Amino acid sequence: MPDRDERRSSSPQAAARGARIVASVLSADLSRLGEEVAALEEAGVDWIQFDVMDADFVPNLTFGPDVIAAARRHTALPFEAQLMVANPDVLIQRCVEAGCERVIVHAESTRNLHRSLLHVEECGGRAAVAVNPATPIDAVVNVLDLVDLVLVMTVNPGFGGQAYLKSMEPKLRLARAAIQATGRPVWLEVDGGIAPETIETCSAAGADVFVTGSALFGDPLGMAHAVQDLRTRANLAATRFGAGAVMA
Ligand code: DX5
Repeated sequence: MPDRDERRSSSPQAAARGARIVASVLSADLSRLGEEVAALEEAGVDWIQFDVMDADFVPNLTFGPDVIAAARRHTALPFEAQLMVANPDVLIQRCVEAGCERVIVHAESTRNLHRSLLHVEECGGRAAVAVNPATPIDAVVNVLDLVDLVLVMTVNPGFGGQAYLKSMEPKLRLARAAIQATGRPVWLEVDGGIAPETIETCSAAGADVFVTGSALFGDPLGMAHAVQDLRTRANLAATRFGAGAVMA
């Protein structure tokens, strides 16, 4: 099992910027999760996202820290947990102990977002914040100093295979401007309906991390093709529109 030092890093400071492709394992064959995460590393994804859902904050129930820990033995890729749960504070430490480098807390899920994000750091994790489609980016501008990633959901969370919400692109531009105003290296992540036909416009709007599930696992030419195709499209769009921090 790759220990913490042998694992790769998803830190925004770690490497040259450029579009990052992240796999959402919600669309994987969960009966073979170990093999699937090893195959994702082979296919060239940059890191893996675990969608932790509690059938309360979102209308679906998925997996928790124990499943994440079981997958941890099969790859050196960085893990992040997106906590789509009504009480994130009770799961933060366990997700970090299970091998997550980053824990994403939804702004809508906690009464004290600032304290919850500080708690991620206290547990040795990288803190990140997410907003659902109806939540304005203003809800997180006062915690941008605590996070290394902001997630703008491009679907209402709960399921894979949903249609991309193009109406989120103005919010992406606002998020990119707010991040740039801090002068800090912070990733801008999108999640939901990311596919060849949608990735270019959200890259042009400022995103530089792209979570994908059904388009990745469902590509008839295989996952390595999907990763390469999505990354090329995102980088070209960013260059063409001078967007994001991709080629800064
Ligand atoms: C939805 C999840 C997403 C989803 C993405 O709530 O947070 O990560 O699995 O799947 P696709 O790419 O199929 O929309």
